[in-house]
Amino acid sequence: MEIKFTVVFFTLLIYDVTADVCEQHICQCNAFDAYVDCSGRQLTDIPSGIPINTTHLDLSVNNLTTVSSTALKDLLNLTTINLSWNKFENDGIEPGALDLPMLTTVDLAQNDIETFPSKIFSKTLTSLNYSHNNMGAMEAGDFAETPSLVFLDISDNGLEAIPSEPSSFSSLKNINELWIADNNLRTLDPMVLGNQFMPHLSIIYVGGNPWYCDCHLKWLKQMSELPSGVIQEIHSIRCSGPDPLKDKRFDKLRAEDFVCK
Ligand SMILES: *[C@@H]1O[C@H](CO)[C@@H](O)[C@H](O)[C@H]1NC(C)=O
Ligand SMILES: *[C@@H]1O[C@H](CO)[C@@H](O)[C@H](O)[C@H]1NC(C)=O
Ligand SMILES: *[C@@H]1O[C@H](CO)[C@@H](O)[C@H](O)[C@H]1NC(C)=O
Ligand SMILES: *[C@@H]1O[C@H](CO)[C@@H](O)[C@H](O)[C@H]1NC(C)=O
Ligand SMILES: *[C@@H]1O[C@H](CO)[C@@H](O)[C@H](O)[C@H]1NC(C)=O
Repeated sequence: MEIKFTVVFFTLLIYDVTADVCEQHICQCNAFDAYVDCSGRQLTDIPSGIPINTTHLDLSVNNLTTVSSTALKDLLNLTTINLSWNKFENDGIEPGALDLPMLTTVDLAQNDIETFPSKIFSKTLTSLNYSHNNMGAMEAGDFAETPSLVFLDISDNGLEAIPSEPSSFSSLKNINELWIADNNLRTLDPMVLGNQFMPHLSIIYVGGNPWYCDCHLKWLKQMSELPSGVIQEIHSIRCSGPDPLKDKRFDKLRAEDFVCK
């Protein structure tokens, strides 16, 4: 009896170790495009047994707090990972954890990370959604390790300023679309968006910030009127000041209205 129980027990154990997350129904798998969907399952750890041929891994809407530097290391064909809507905090994702050779797209939106985890990514990363985190302030080297980014969303991070000397964006030589909406930005040095830093920038979303419409932001008004259409969401902006312009619509003002006393 005891022997039989032990045999059954070990068989189960071996089955558990070898069966992957698809066979165990921990995740839903689509073999055709190696899409593994583990979203919305209250996972507190990254499950073991993710097939090594996975190209898209969705771990969104879970309770993850950590990703160790080795948890994903076998997923050499992974191109996209969705880690949004989890419970990551500072240092929860270890350096190198997302440094995978084929990885191009990471969604880390809707977590509560304060210090931007610049050391976790691979240099091949082209798309990062980092909106709805808690950056607060930017450091000059934040994007130094992700020079291939084409798309970056850092909306809703409580950002109060974007440093211009040196610019945090100066390493984003390939950036095309940039979202800095819904922060606490009052002004912006035109140098930050300068061609010498971001020669391929073609769209920037700036709405939902308390822009202070004085002479220092006249350039943004002028740029918003160019036919190139780089500056997006102008219609939603209301100036936070100075006094005569408080609550006035940015798009209704003239460039001459942007003055300093
Ligand atoms: C991935 O590997 C699994 C077995 O682990 C297999 O069933 C599936 O067909 C493979 N998918 C691709 C796209 O190679
Ligand atoms: C996951 O987090 C939710 C709250 O966001 C909580 O209600 C739930 O109990 C947590 N589940 C686990 C398994 O920790
Ligand atoms: C990764 O993709 C390459 C090219 O499509 C393929 O030859 C290789 O078998 C894949 N590796 C795994 C682990 O699925
Ligand atoms: C990541 O998951 C969230 C929630 O499931 C979803 O809204 C979002 O579109 C996904 N991101 C990407 C890049 O597919
Ligand atoms: C980034 O993620 C947030 C939260 O899921 C989503 O609302 C937003 O649309 C995403 N950004 C872009 C530009 O897709």
